[in-house]
Amino acid sequence: MAPHRKVLVSGFASTIICSLAAAWVPFWSGRAVHALEQRQWAWSRRDLVWMLGFTIVAGVGRYLMRNTLIGLSRAVEKRQREEIYDVLLAMPFAFYEQSRIGDLMSRIGDDVNTVRMATGPGLMSLLQTVTLLPMTVALMVHASPRLALAVLMPFSMLAAGFYLIGRWSHRLQQRLQIVTSQLNTFSHETISGERVVQAFGLEALRVKAFEDLSRTQARMNIAQTVLFGAYAPLSALTAGVAALVLVAYGGGLVLHKVLTLGDLTAFTGYLAALAWPIMSMGWSANLFQRGQAGQERIDVVLHPTERPLPPPGAPVAQPAGAAALEARGITHRFGTGRGLGPLDLSLPAGARLAVVGGIGSGKTILLQVLAGLRTIQGGTLTLDGLPLDEAALRRHWAGLGWVPQEAFLFSDSLRENLAMGRPEATEEELWEVARVVCLDDLIERLPQGLDTVVGERGVALSGGERQRTALARALLRKPRLMLLDDALSAVDAQTESRILENLRTFLDGVTLVLATHRVFVAELCERVLVLEDGQPAQLGTPQELSERPGHYARIKRLQSLEREILGA
Ligand SMILES: Nc1ncnc2c1ncn2[C@@H]1O[C@H](COP(=O)(O)OP(=O)(O)OP(=O)(O)O)[C@@H](O)[C@H]1O
Ligand SMILES: [Mg+2]
Repeated sequence: MAPHRKVLVSGFASTIICSLAAAWVPFWSGRAVHALEQRQWAWSRRDLVWMLGFTIVAGVGRYLMRNTLIGLSRAVEKRQREEIYDVLLAMPFAFYEQSRIGDLMSRIGDDVNTVRMATGPGLMSLLQTVTLLPMTVALMVHASPRLALAVLMPFSMLAAGFYLIGRWSHRLQQRLQIVTSQLNTFSHETISGERVVQAFGLEALRVKAFEDLSRTQARMNIAQTVLFGAYAPLSALTAGVAALVLVAYGGGLVLHKVLTLGDLTAFTGYLAALAWPIMSMGWSANLFQRGQAGQERIDVVLHPTERPLPPPGAPVAQPAGAAALEARGITHRFGTGRGLGPLDLSLPAGARLAVVGGIGSGKTILLQVLAGLRTIQGGTLTLDGLPLDEAALRRHWAGLGWVPQEAFLFSDSLRENLAMGRPEATEEELWEVARVVCLDDLIERLPQGLDTVVGERGVALSGGERQRTALARALLRKPRLMLLDDALSAVDAQTESRILENLRTFLDGVTLVLATHRVFVAELCERVLVLEDGQPAQLGTPQELSERPGHYARIKRLQSLEREILGA
């Protein structure tokens, strides 16, 4: 807040100056009229000059106030967005499994906006009210306590009305923000799953569900508008009643010579000056309610239950040599009881391990644990003999090549996607990894070559092309630990064999763990681990396991048969 303090102080100062000056304008107009009534031309002229002076000061003050306070709210908005973004980037895997993207987007968008409206226009009008109101009321009481009391009576009723409306509006706003985020989540899922929606003919259903959500949101927005809409007419009604009281009662006082005509004129000015601050009281109360509801939702993101990852700090150099991992009794189980472990695993530097097993046997979870992306719930995991704790994570990631089961590309060029993990890579190095994953042919055929943009999440590439791009990206980092999660599943058998052959030399000396359903991929490794329900069922060389009865021998027989038939 320190950098904003100066701005805030000057905003406050200009608001006070603006309000004080504005409150004195009617006073001087009253004085001028009074002087006129007394036929004191010179006095009247002098009063008018004062009035002009205060008007100018009020105008300049208002200009400065707007600039500083609205500018401040924009700065707060920017900082808040950055804070949320930083938290999101530091969140572990588990956080994203429980969050929905549409909801997060609505917090970073709509909710931050409601906070900005509260800290900018809301705070500004509140400040104006609290400075202008007492000053004007003091001047009114000074002129005529009786008339001031009579004129201000309707306003106190208005304040009570505003309080009630504000409470309803706050409750409604909280519900509205939840519905808005549901709507965001739903549309985000529908749009990103558009192809599935079309292929399954789900359009009508999705449209109907969208309409329902959208109707609920519209209904709440309308209710909010109805509530919000009551502020202005209520204020106008109150101002009207106050004006009536002023003319009827104040006029009587003038006739009875208790009040001067000048005072009555000044009162008219005071009422006009009060109309906006009082009207805006309701408006700013509404903004504060919205802002509060928004801030509550933002706080949930800013203070997540998951522990954030340690901040990146300075770039960490890749440790020398291949990684050595040692797991003792590690577990990572979900609420359903599914997952991984307990499991012991020894991976000396340069070891190559293939992890096989049925669908849902825990291969992906094991690789994510070894990647340091998931924390273990039990057991110990060491990297190069030291515990793989939070402090060691950045060092671990500096030497990690991880190819997830679902290849994720950014909507950038092929070059950007490949060089992501090593921006300093040379053209020659890019082509080298492209050759390893047999992607060079494709790149040569593309009119824009490496500069071809791959579309959002890489939609412009085929599944196999996306996978190989993700593999090349990891290879380019020249990691000391390579984790391949079924990274060639979408590649045809012939290309697969060529890539495996290339990997054999390219990954020489690198510690490698690969999860796969294919025995021919597993044969790249000297050891195979068979998982069953997250636990080790078999461990041995591919040769040993193919001779022992079990999952590995079974799939080997099946896949050899398949190759023979296809080859024949
Ligand atoms: N985020 C999660 N929440 C709850 N359960 C999960 C989660 N991720 C995985 N699981 C469960 O953990 C088990 C192991 O999942 P995992 O993804 O490791 O399987 P896998 O061996 O990689 O399967 P596949 O061959 O299909 O890739 C599965 O039963 C899965 O349902
Ligand atoms: Mg998997």
